[in-house]
Amino acid sequence: MIVLAHLSDPHLDGGKRAAARTAQVMHYLNGLPGDVDAIVVTGDLTDNGLPAEREQATALLASPRFPVITCPGNHDGYTPYGWPANQVHDLGRFAVVACDSVILGRADGHLGDATLDWLRSSLDGLRGRPVFVAFHHPPVKLHHPMIDEIRLSAAERVAAVLADHPDVVAVLCGHAHTPAATTFAGRPLLVAPGVKSTLLLPWELPAGEMNWRSTLDLGQPPAVAFHILDDDGRLTTHFRLVTD
Ligand SMILES: [Fe+2]
Ligand SMILES: [Fe+2]
Repeated sequence: MIVLAHLSDPHLDGGKRAAARTAQVMHYLNGLPGDVDAIVVTGDLTDNGLPAEREQATALLASPRFPVITCPGNHDGYTPYGWPANQVHDLGRFAVVACDSVILGRADGHLGDATLDWLRSSLDGLRGRPVFVAFHHPPVKLHHPMIDEIRLSAAERVAAVLADHPDVVAVLCGHAHTPAATTFAGRPLLVAPGVKSTLLLPWELPAGEMNWRSTLDLGQPPAVAFHILDDDGRLTTHFRLVTD
C-alpha cells in the first residue's frame, strides 16, 4: 500500500494568512501518528514567484519525516524565478513524476515539446512500478468556468503519452482551488483543494454572479487529499479539512 498526501496552491505571499494556513496543513501532516509515503504539492507555492516568497515556501513546505515533492504553478512563473521543474522522484516502490506546466506570464498551462519528450522517456525508465504524474493545470474541464478557461491545453498530447504507459496510476493537479475527482486518459485525475482559498462552483452562487470576486471563498479551512494505492492497483482518495 502507498499513501500520498496531496495539497496545492498555498500561494505564499510573504503575509501571515497564507503562511498560517500552510503551516497548519504541514503541522497536521508532520504530526500524523502514522506515516505517509510522500507529500505532493501541485503548484502555486508562491503568489508572485518572488525570492522572499520562495524562501517562505522552502521553509514552510518542509517535512522532517516525509519526502516533499513540488511542481510549479502559474503564480510561481510570473517571474523568471520558476520553481525547479520536470523532476523524477524515485521513491523505490513507486515514483512521482513532477512536470512543469507553466507558460511564463500566462495563467493557462501546457506541457511543451521538451517536457512531453522528457515525460515519455522518464515513464519509459520507470516501467514496472506505479507512477503518479503531477502537474499544476488540470487537463480537463472541471465545470468551473474561469478555471476551465485556463486549464492545460493540448491535453490530447499528454493523453497519448499516458496511453503508452499503463504504469501511470493517476494524474495529480491543483490550480482549481476545489477538491475534485474525475478521469483523464482513462486514469483517475485528482485535484487537491486549495490551501489558501476555495473557489465556489456555479450552483453555489446566485445565477449570473460567477466572477473572480464572488467565486473566491476565504472562509473555508485548508484541506488535503490522501491518495491510497492498494497492492492490486486500486486507488482510493480521502479529502480532509485541516482545522486548528
Ligand atoms: Fe492557485
Ligand atoms: Fe494556478
